Amino acid sequence: MSDGPQYGFDTLQIHAGARPDPATGARQTPIYQTTAYVFRDADHAAALFNLQEVGFIYSRLTNPTVAVLQERVATLEGGVGAVCCSSGHAAQIMALFPLMGPGCNVVASTRLYGGTVTQFSQTIKRFGWSATFVDTDDLEAVKAAIDENTRAVFCESIANPGGYVTDIRALADVADEAGIPLIVDNTSATPFLCRPIEHGATLVVHSTTKYLTGNGTVTGGCIVDSGKFDWSANDKFPSLSQPEPAYHGLKFHETFGPLAFTFHGIAIGLRDLGMTMNPQAAHYTLMGIETLSLRMERHVENAQKLAAWLENDDRVEYVTYAGLPSSPYYDRVQKNYPRGAGALFTFAVKGGYDACIKLVNALEIFSHVANLGDARSLIIHSASTTHRQLTPEQQEAAGAGPNVVRVSIGIEDADDLIADLDQALSKASA
Ligand SMILES: Cc1ncc(COP(=O)(O)O)c(C=O)c1O
Repeated sequence: MSDGPQYGFDTLQIHAGARPDPATGARQTPIYQTTAYVFRDADHAAALFNLQEVGFIYSRLTNPTVAVLQERVATLEGGVGAVCCSSGHAAQIMALFPLMGPGCNVVASTRLYGGTVTQFSQTIKRFGWSATFVDTDDLEAVKAAIDENTRAVFCESIANPGGYVTDIRALADVADEAGIPLIVDNTSATPFLCRPIEHGATLVVHSTTKYLTGNGTVTGGCIVDSGKFDWSANDKFPSLSQPEPAYHGLKFHETFGPLAFTFHGIAIGLRDLGMTMNPQAAHYTLMGIETLSLRMERHVENAQKLAAWLENDDRVEYVTYAGLPSSPYYDRVQKNYPRGAGALFTFAVKGGYDACIKLVNALEIFSHVANLGDARSLIIHSASTTHRQLTPEQQEAAGAGPNVVRVSIGIEDADDLIADLDQALSKASA
């Protein structure tokens, strides 16, 4: 696709990054199932290794199928470049890696996917990194949590599982003032509902496992770089602004300008951490992205109908969907997320923990799985599964108390989904 007119989202989700295969004319992006690429000659090889020429060396770093996906997600998010990796969790580590060092911390929202809370509160300690968790609606608390060793603020746009909606612009202003990047996990919203870079985010991370692929087939992740952050404005980001010892003293920001983070992610991050996306996964995700807008429209339409139905049901205590006028985030959605509040929400079942367990066991269309963003409707009782490692206080803060189930509303017939919930709620409250 040429750098022609400014195409719309529906066009870009099919075409961005892709061109007919130069060798065969194949219209669909081929799966380049290869580990290595033959160099034209020794000078060509040296230029590639010196990053003087962009090309393919070895599939731990770059692969043509993965490259199309990188360009596509970057385009849809409005970024300058992207790095795909093996999972959403890998993308989070890869996003933090160039920014952090021993003794550095990230200020993170309390309302994050439970796996991210565990990754940030436990596992990153092994690298000498730490996380400080704050309520990102309380901007003064965010400011107070940032200290001289903070290297990023991290939030989700629409937070899994509670359906909380972040005021990205307000948080970006706080991060800007502190001279650090805002990283937004945009997995639940997707660029169809929210483009965090337009609201001031520096980096966007995705679990491409979810809506971008859209049918629960592969795991993957992606980091999109806005290209807007000045890594050399202070001395906090030496990997990007100073000579990088892991790449014979190359200064990434000076050499690559707005693409510094992307090049670092490939040349150092993928090369040395090896959390690489494989071309098969990139293929499945490219297939999914082609219909992203159509699916998201139906996901949101169904979620809106089901949330309204559940809210009026006596067997349900409350529903957290931000698309309902009763939600404290309703106004924020209208202003910042005009295409809707996504398709992920929680509801509390009268009867508590036991009723939730009966409900998930009785459902027939909804699948009880630890996933979201599938074409199928999914449900999970977070407190006994994904959020099990969290303390009761952390569970409550994440909106995953014992009486709460999380649903990821699929694109089936809304009436069938309502009938399924109706029969299962009857069994749960019997
Ligand atoms: C919002 C969010 N971010 C990140 C992840 C991690 O993604 P992955 O499972 O692809 O590692 C998940 C997984 O559920 C998620 O829901």
